[in-house]
Amino acid sequence: MTAKYSRIAGTGSFLPQKILTNADLEKLVDTSDEWIRTRTGISQRHVAAESETTTDLAEQAARRAIEAAGISAADIDLICVGTTTPDLVFPNVGTLLQDRLGIHGCPAFSLEAACTGFVYALSVADKFVRLGESKCALVVGAETLTRIIDWNDRGTCVLFADGAGAVILQPSAEPGIISTRLHSDGKYKDLLTYPDGVSKGFKLVREGKASVQMRGNEVYKVAVNTLGQLVTETLNANNISKSELDWLIPHQANLRIIEAIAKRLDLPMERVIVTIDTQGNTSAASVPLALDTGIRDGRVKRGQLLLLEAFGGGFTWGSALIRY
Ligand code: UT7
Repeated sequence: MTAKYSRIAGTGSFLPQKILTNADLEKLVDTSDEWIRTRTGISQRHVAAESETTTDLAEQAARRAIEAAGISAADIDLICVGTTTPDLVFPNVGTLLQDRLGIHGCPAFSLEAACTGFVYALSVADKFVRLGESKCALVVGAETLTRIIDWNDRGTCVLFADGAGAVILQPSAEPGIISTRLHSDGKYKDLLTYPDGVSKGFKLVREGKASVQMRGNEVYKVAVNTLGQLVTETLNANNISKSELDWLIPHQANLRIIEAIAKRLDLPMERVIVTIDTQGNTSAASVPLALDTGIRDGRVKRGQLLLLEAFGGGFTWGSALIRY
């Protein structure tokens, strides 16, 4: 019999060792610790070493999730990675990760949905499990976003950071992942973009002019509105009232955005997992990093109802309602 749902069997995450504080950034650009903390909530962030790639971070997070789930790597029959900063154009990070874990033959891929990458990956893997095509899926969000930042641009370099988070999904008769909701709207493509790539010929890269471009204030306004609608839509579609939620596990782009969404849900900040203060915005890694943080420090408990949400370049946005 096909199990009706997927459930999270284990989580893991990994942050590179190197820490960049706001004081360090004060030496690079015209900014201040006070501005960064009050406007974003960030105090420090982790930055990958020069030799460290997205797959390196993903591997560590995946190994921790495998251990937490009590499985062995050989049990994994699907790998789905959300990332915007792959090591290579190809092979994809999923396949590189598969090789690191010594697994051969199962489908492995990465998808690119900017900061919403993990939620997209989770939604895809959930469907594989529900359809009976996967009995043990590894889902990862991993980024080395600092590689594509202009360290002279104070509007972006104070925000982004590196890291990885992973979950293992297995079939279950009970939810599990209750629902995922994905959205995208390319009309906002110019508000947040890395404007170069393979078929653009890497022209800007070759000229040393490629970096993340963000019209921060405009992104902020759309993010608050869109995420506000998304959480309401998610609860309504599942006949769940705000008061039933145990935890909001949001994308960590700006503490003020997180607070606005918590307010919309009538959730006190004690019911929100916040990692942005120490981790910055790790793009597709931020939601699984926050999830793993909450689980490992004992706040998020089995049986509780979690609302995950993310928003990023594209724009893309999405949510997952989960009975952990
Ligand atoms: O993860 C993907 C989605 N990303 C987001 O959701 C990010 C959304 N945007 C934001 O989080 C915020 O817009 C930022 C944190 C990026 C900027 O905060 P803001 O309150 O929207 O500031 P602003 O862009 O309106 O700029 C206000 C002032 C400007 O100076 P003037 O023109 O008022 O003199 C900026 O030049 O702050 C200045 N500023 C800075 N000052 C010190 C911008 N960046 C900095 C900085 N340090 N790092």
